Amino acid sequence: MSTRTTVAPNDLRAFWMPFTANRQFKSAPRMLVSAEGMHYTSADGRQILDGTAGLWCVNAGHKRPKIVKAIQEQAEELDYAPAFQMGHPKVFELANRLVDLAPEPFEHAFFTNSGSESVETALKIALAYHRAKGEGQRFRLIGRERGYHGVNFGGISVGGIVPNRKMFGTLLTGVDHLPHTHDLARNAWTRGQPEHGAELADELERIVGLHGPETVAAVIVEPMAGSTGVLMPPKGYLERLRAITKKYGILLIFDEVITGFGRLGAPFAAEYFDVMPDMIVCAKGLTNGVIPMGAVLTTAEIHDAFMQGPEHMIELFHGYTYSGNPMACAAGLGTLETYADEGLLTRAAELGPYWEDALHSLKGLPNVIDIRNMGLIGAIELEPIAGAPTQRAFSAFLKAYEKGCLIRTTGDIIALSPPLIIEKAHIDQLIGTLADVLKGLE
Ligand SMILES: Cc1ncc(COP(=O)(O)O)c(C=O)c1O
Repeated sequence: MSTRTTVAPNDLRAFWMPFTANRQFKSAPRMLVSAEGMHYTSADGRQILDGTAGLWCVNAGHKRPKIVKAIQEQAEELDYAPAFQMGHPKVFELANRLVDLAPEPFEHAFFTNSGSESVETALKIALAYHRAKGEGQRFRLIGRERGYHGVNFGGISVGGIVPNRKMFGTLLTGVDHLPHTHDLARNAWTRGQPEHGAELADELERIVGLHGPETVAAVIVEPMAGSTGVLMPPKGYLERLRAITKKYGILLIFDEVITGFGRLGAPFAAEYFDVMPDMIVCAKGLTNGVIPMGAVLTTAEIHDAFMQGPEHMIELFHGYTYSGNPMACAAGLGTLETYADEGLLTRAAELGPYWEDALHSLKGLPNVIDIRNMGLIGAIELEPIAGAPTQRAFSAFLKAYEKGCLIRTTGDIIALSPPLIIEKAHIDQLIGTLADVLKGLE
């Protein structure tokens, strides 16, 4: 444990906090000052069990030695190299390691700095790919209700979380949405993939028919929707999306920002579900959340479509100042090594049954209307308080924090996604704390 003491700053006004109830927070701040393994230390000196891997990103747990060392050494050696028209060894090494880890069809990695930027990058590649192949009339993008694809304009346009969209004007044109798959009436209390809802993928046929298949560039979905409250794909659903997109020459993009890097028990959800999209969007667990980084993985077919024209010409007019930043690459390499050394990318499959039973033991507690799980992810859905949606879950979040556990809530759903190093005793503590919290809630 760290012996360093940190004084909490006492003027909180300047910082406009993201996705936070700023006034509530500043009236009763929750400050974290250090972290190690499965725990945070709060400013008031308490150990807080991390039930959310930070924000679904610290998959290897906190302060992991190989990652810390990699960053320290990189800062001494090469702090920054221009991302355009120049290279450095670690960015090539990381791209190779990443495509080795990914399922077979993925041969190229384009680096970004976040999940949101990865989404924008994938959508742009999809449009440009069709144009490079002489099909520039394919400009439509299809997302899904309740989808979360980050917060930039492309991502909120294809995304389907209403508060993330409604304040921000007209968004992208040429976008349509599949229906979401949440169906408590038929699928409540499901362990793993729900039985019902594969037919919802057939809505894609209707949407494509409405617009003309030759105008559709790509469909983007989270294979398992995380931020909206953990919605598993119904059995057969992803397979149908794949079949329909293939039939019409439409690219399928999996947003694996949460599912990537072992969350379900395989390195990527594409492998877990055995459904191969044309692009994988990832971020978060790529660097264990330590340094911002994201990536888009593509097939050779997509990459090679751009490799034409004079050789001195830039093939894709897209990239970020920090694409493949040396510090992020070092963190990524340290992270992938840690995952490999400790078998973390399949650990969720081993611990899954214990996790599942522990979660479902909360069935029957007051206001719990559904529990669902897969790999090392779980959701507990609460009946909203009439006239005050989100309040019950937010109270649960505050109470759990008081009792030493960090959980996450979205709407009236508690979402759990602990670091993949979690032990059974931590699971018992997390679920035991939640049981106490739920029993004491209004
Ligand atoms: C599926 C998905 N896509 C994109 C993002 C956006 O990632 P970032 O916050 O790194 O921009 C997230 C973040 O939670 C996500 O869950």
